[in-house]
This record gives sequence, C-alpha cells and structure tokens, in this order.
Amino acid sequence: MMKIIFHPQTLRETINQKRKENKRIALVPTMGNLHAGHLSLVEQAKQKSDVIVTSIFVNPTQFGVHEDFDRYPRTLEQDSQLLEQAGNHIIFAPNVKTMYPNGMPPLIEVHAPLLDSLLCGASRPGHFTGVATIVSKLFNLVQPDVAIFGEKDFQQLLVIRRLVSELAFPIEIIGAPILREANGLAMSSRNQYLTAEQRALAGKIYQQLCVSKNWLLAEKNNTAEKISAHCQQAAEQLNQLGFQTDYYEIRRQSDLQSPQVEDKELVILVATKLGSTRLIDNLVLSMGDQV
Ligand code: PAJ
Repeated sequence: MMKIIFHPQTLRETINQKRKENKRIALVPTMGNLHAGHLSLVEQAKQKSDVIVTSIFVNPTQFGVHEDFDRYPRTLEQDSQLLEQAGNHIIFAPNVKTMYPNGMPPLIEVHAPLLDSLLCGASRPGHFTGVATIVSKLFNLVQPDVAIFGEKDFQQLLVIRRLVSELAFPIEIIGAPILREANGLAMSSRNQYLTAEQRALAGKIYQQLCVSKNWLLAEKNNTAEKISAHCQQAAEQLNQLGFQTDYYEIRRQSDLQSPQVEDKELVILVATKLGSTRLIDNLVLSMGDQV
C-alpha cells in the first residue's frame, strides 16, 4: 500500500526503517497535478531503486509575484491514484508552513548566480533560488540515493546538477527525456490553462525546434551571427502565429552559454507565451548527428 505522509518527522521515521532494510531510495520532486511526463520519472525511479518517494509541493518561493501560484492546479486525490497505479511507494505532501517554518522569504537560501541570470532565470527573478532552496530541503529530508528530474526543464536540471556537485550532496541525478502530446507539445501541468485552439497551435513550438535542429545539422561552419539571426527569425515566426516569445536561443548543453565552433552538444531552448500561459520547451542535439 502506498503511504501519504504530510510531516517530515513521519517521513524520516519511515525512510530510516527502509534504510535499515538496505533499501535504495529514489526521490521524484514534483508540484503535483501529475501527467504522463511525471509518471515517466517514477518509471525511471523504479529501475534505479527499491523505494520511490514522490514529493508534491507547490513551492511558493519559485513563483514571481504576478505568476500563477494561487491558481496552480492542486489535485492530490487524483495524483495519489495515478501514483499508486504507477507503483510509487510514498507521497510526501507537506504544507507551506512545514516547509517554511519561519515564513517567507526563508532565512537561508541557495543561489545559483551564473545560471540564475540567463534564459528563464533572467525572465523569472528568484525562480531558481526558490527551486534550489526547496530541492536542497527535500534532499535533506528524504536523503535519497538517486533523484529524477525531467529534461523538459533543462535549465532546472542543470541547476540541480550544479547544486549537487557544489554542495556535495551524495545523490545521483538522473535526467529523463521529455514526454510530448501527439502534436509535439511538451506535456506540462500548465497546458490545462490553454483553450483547445491554443493547445493545437502550441504544437508549432516543437515543429519550430525541429526546423532549427535540422538547420543546425545541415549548416556547417555556423557563426555566432548566423545562429543569432536564425533564432531571431524563429522567434518572429512564432510571434506571427500568435505567440509572444520571451527567448529562443541555441546554447551549449554544459553551461547554457553561447556555443563556440568546437562545441558539439547543443540545445535549442524556447520560452513563449500563448495568452497568459508561459510555455517552455527544448531540443537537444549533437553536431555529430545525421540530419
Ligand atoms: P513540476 O513542474 O511539477 O515538474 C516535476 C518534474 O517533472 C520536473 O523534473 C520536470 O522537469 C518533470 N517534467 C515535467 N514535464 C515533463 C515532461 N513533459 N516530460 C518529462 N518530464 C517532465 O519542476 C518542478 O515541478 C519544480 O520546479 C520542482 C523541481 C518540484 C521544485 O519545486
């Protein structure tokens, strides 16, 4: 039977017991309102552990003041059914008071200065500080052997990898591939803010990413100028379709800086709005790949 735990003390006791039994623990951090993308992380966790802890916590400190914290969908009952079917063992669903006992902002925060100032960090001030802080806290509460994060949030995954190496958390981090709708739209809890029409249109984001990937693979000897012109054109094309693009960028995977000619592992990243809904997506490629 799957357990739902609300209090850190109960969580610690349950996990200590599992550890005594020599079980390997996996953590899947989420904000709930689960979809197939989240469940694919649980599936990966299964391959890597004996006990899977999925946390569900809509973390206020990673939302900006004008963002969707209040209306973010909270669906614990439905989530627990999905997790039970997926073979999850423990849900940790704390409340805000539990996670921030001294109020907000918390007295101590974890920053990722370099990554915090670019792409999503630039458009969402404080977002990655909120993420790095809550994930550190979850790591300390659960003390997992392994934690699974989606490549959907590519920059977040990089922040977490850096967090683990800089602060010496003894945790293996696994990145899981992006799950998409039939039309290519990356699955996201925020997709439900979209109308049917917007949802159909949102498939164009992935199409544009694929165009850019093919262009990069076909176009040898790219210069920074050509790459920047291509990205600008891609953003304009999305905007003509009714999107409001925040950024459309080609970066290297290792640190999300602009690629140099010798960089082979690249990623195309986009953040764009349809109405008031902000959507992010990305596509990785290796310059050795075939077109
Ligand atoms: P949330 O948006 O709920 O996402 C939880 C995890 O699911 C993240 O690792 C995310 O990358 C992954 N995910 C979301 N959509 C996916 C998709 N279509 N395919 C594969 N994986 C997908 O990310 C967060 O919550 C929070 O920032 C959190 C890490 C929990 C910290 O609060």
